[in-house]
Amino acid sequence: MLRFGMIGLAALGLASCGVAKPPAVTEVVGANSIEVGRYISMVAGCNDCHTAGYAQNAGKVPEAQWLLGNPIGYRGPWGTSYASNLRLLVNTMSKEAFVEMLDTRQGLPPMPWQNVKALSPANKAALYDYFKSLGPAGEAMPAVVPPGQEPTTPYENMVPVGPGGAPLGAP
Ligand code: HEC
Repeated sequence: MLRFGMIGLAALGLASCGVAKPPAVTEVVGANSIEVGRYISMVAGCNDCHTAGYAQNAGKVPEAQWLLGNPIGYRGPWGTSYASNLRLLVNTMSKEAFVEMLDTRQGLPPMPWQNVKALSPANKAALYDYFKSLGPAGEAMPAVVPPGQEPTTPYENMVPVGPGGAPLGAP
């Protein structure tokens, strides 16, 4: 009886001061929101599209030129879209409106709208803080070109082709 009682107490002890309860939200935390935003921007690939030359040069673009947009379009069945200048964007909208945009907007490919939506509210806000900390600079990117219309800028053709260039049709 006594033996059982001791085991019971030990089990109780483990339950009360055992493994820490995980936080309710899965998100990136850091020294401050600007650092968190910078980190997410790098690892979630924002620079790959929104910083001209970033992906092509293995990230060797000075930070002062990050996130100014890319005037080379992405052409597909949706028309031609351009990765926007995010530093000008955050200068025109509140943090709340930016967070709401990442939550709800169903924009054009190849922007990974479905991925940014999954960030926690604090992490979405941290992206805003980081973009804002870089300061407004650069130009606004061209407007979307409707499907079937020839862009006046260079663009990447995102229609998949088969071996030898054979058309595959819509993915
Ligand atoms: C694969 C390329 C790609 C990646 C990666 C990418 N974007 Fe985009 N982004 C785009 C394109 C293209 C557009 C324009 C889409 C449209 O017109 O709906 C865009 C649009 C946006 C807009 C709307 C801007 C406006 O002016 O309305 C925001 C905000 C944005 N991206 C934030 C991000 C963030 C934050 C990340 C990183 C987590 C990211 N993007 C990663 C390509 C990309």
